[in-house]
Amino acid sequence: MYKLLVLAGDGIGPEVMAEVEKVITWFDQKDGIAFDVSQDLVGGAAFDVHSTPLHDDTLERARHADAILLGAVGAPKYDNLDFSVKPERGLLRLRKELDLFANLRPAVCFDALADFSSLKREVVAGLDIMIVRELTSGVYFGEPRGIEDDGQGGRIGINTQRYTSEEIRRVARAAFVLAGKRGGKLCSMEKANVMESGVLWREEVQQIGDTEFPEIELSHMYADAGAMQLVREPRQFDVIVTDNLFGDLLSDAAAMLTGSLGMLPSASLGAMGEQGRPKALYEPVHGSAPDIAGQGQANPCAAILSFAMALRYSFDLADAAQRLESAVAKTLEDGLRTPDLLQNPGAHPATTCEVGDAVVARLEAAG
Ligand code: IPM
Ligand code: MG
Repeated sequence: MYKLLVLAGDGIGPEVMAEVEKVITWFDQKDGIAFDVSQDLVGGAAFDVHSTPLHDDTLERARHADAILLGAVGAPKYDNLDFSVKPERGLLRLRKELDLFANLRPAVCFDALADFSSLKREVVAGLDIMIVRELTSGVYFGEPRGIEDDGQGGRIGINTQRYTSEEIRRVARAAFVLAGKRGGKLCSMEKANVMESGVLWREEVQQIGDTEFPEIELSHMYADAGAMQLVREPRQFDVIVTDNLFGDLLSDAAAMLTGSLGMLPSASLGAMGEQGRPKALYEPVHGSAPDIAGQGQANPCAAILSFAMALRYSFDLADAAQRLESAVAKTLEDGLRTPDLLQNPGAHPATTCEVGDAVVARLEAAG
């Protein structure tokens, strides 16, 4: 029995997670994989009830879950809250407290959607890259930080980019292991030309490669050049490993290459636990999309594909993951699409709920 904690969060989070729960129920009832699902609050939804975006009890439940499935956090009505209780802090605290240091963000271009990319079909067709973003350190968490008076009537905003060699090594190892299971290529990105933390990053990654993964083809790029290569010729990459902030930017750029943010899942993994399972949180890359929340327009595919990642990375159920991914691809091919995936304005959009049902129906049809 696998324990899943669903934190639907804000905006379109609850809508897309309702579709994920249908998929979970299907696997539980029809495929013999027993899941024990419970729900809790995160982000603005938690703030409304507990005056904090992540209650300690929720964190405690998260620690004991086999996997956490998160929807999205954030809404305009929380924009003026103090930084420490903004919805985003709930997510950042989960990442940090559970030490989920390796964030896997695949950018896969589904054939049925290649024409949605802002790049030409021939540049993106068949694209399948994996960005591994360091998630618990760097400038997101480095001290000192804050806004201070400079004593002369002005102010100073401060953030600190800080990495220890061990923080670099552990995320590098995760990326090398993934590269070994994929195309055997890893590209590491930093700004070693201007940042000491980048010099350390490059040296540590190179050393892990030389000593532990000599069979992986390792290269290094400055992150700005990497961004340029990502939009020039994205298929040159297999796995990319980079720090927290560069990973945030590069993964959004990579996401757009695939045509729709509404299709991209992610996994945030920590160290291996006793049962051979990493601490893990799965979430769609898209945000809470307050502009379309509650209208049945949200694309549930990224959230559903995040659950496929859970099957693969938490429960070692690669076959089930594959079947779920195929069911999503088939749903798109059959034209059941939310408005974000419709080119022809006359085309009939499917609702969030219809897409979820269609995915379940295709799982069922595939047996
Ligand atoms: C992401 C988001 C988050 C981040 C925000 C919501 C805190 O942009 O997961 O990429 O910056 O890490
Ligand atoms: Mg981001």
